[in-house]
Amino acid sequence: MKATARAHPNIALVKYWGKRDELLFLPFQGSLSMTLGGLSATTTVEFGDGREDAAQLDGRWLEGAELARICRALDRVRERAGIRARARVASQNDFPKAAGLASSAAGGAALAAAASWAAGLAPAPRELSILARQSSGSACRSVEGGFCEWSAGEAKDGSDSFAVQVAGPSHWPELRMVVLVCAGEAKEVSSRDGMRHCVETSVYYRAWVECARQDLEAARKALLARDFAALGAVAERNAWRMHASAMGADPPVVYLRPATLAVIQEVAALRAGGVPAYFTLDAGPNPVVLCREADAHRVEERLSAVPGVQRSVLAAPGGGVERLERHLF
Ligand code: DP6
Repeated sequence: MKATARAHPNIALVKYWGKRDELLFLPFQGSLSMTLGGLSATTTVEFGDGREDAAQLDGRWLEGAELARICRALDRVRERAGIRARARVASQNDFPKAAGLASSAAGGAALAAAASWAAGLAPAPRELSILARQSSGSACRSVEGGFCEWSAGEAKDGSDSFAVQVAGPSHWPELRMVVLVCAGEAKEVSSRDGMRHCVETSVYYRAWVECARQDLEAARKALLARDFAALGAVAERNAWRMHASAMGADPPVVYLRPATLAVIQEVAALRAGGVPAYFTLDAGPNPVVLCREADAHRVEERLSAVPGVQRSVLAAPGGGVERLERHLF
């Protein structure tokens, strides 16, 4: 009744932004991401005879809302497995919070897998993706590696809302993402709150959904054709559109900081100088720049020198969730 899983974070090229169902984590539109190799969350789950679920994240015991989130994920697995045992959970990220990457995607995928395996289940990737989705939407795209598309689906119960691999890591191994950390601290408005606020109040939310659907088609096509300029262009315009919808909320949500804009300008300057590079931006101040392996060091060096950039992280396409024999406890 014990298992350990490792999963990687992912960065969306076409974003997930807004839920049509808050409880089941069902989005209004599909999204497409790259899984980041080299960075991971590892989670061990053991079902035993304890009286309550207990969970540790990076050595810290969780309480309150954080623990409740883990318990709900465990409940979904217990229900499927027909067991009642309480669990001990430990999770460890090998990338610091200050790396500017949310750990909820990698953590949610690793927890869904470790809990399922510990409960004796052997879920197919589709089922795991559905389980992971209910911890954090973006986690459903970290079950498989390479490039994954999360279909919004139409079913009320969410049974058709999961991510599938569009292409494996070897489809485009020379693609790179450089994360430019412009502010390491916790962000002011979480993705969860920010997207809810946009759905409820943004005058541009409808337009966002419509555009994101078109962007998804264009991005999938560019990805499959390995058309770097086309993929980069969609990623940039999709990020701008997501942030435009946030700025159109009432009150507005602005995630960009002066250093964020300075990096974006430098990306345009790189491109004007003949180095193909494109940015994307999640619900925070840290741009992620898409470039090719041959240019990665030059891009990283140039953008790291932009005033306000604190550090950078370079990643290549990574794999899906894996089972590890070594447990965390
Ligand atoms: C901007 O998956 O963190 O990064 O489903 O509420 O847990 P919840 O939100 P989360 O949102 C990610 C939003 C995003 C875009 C993306 O990753 O697609």
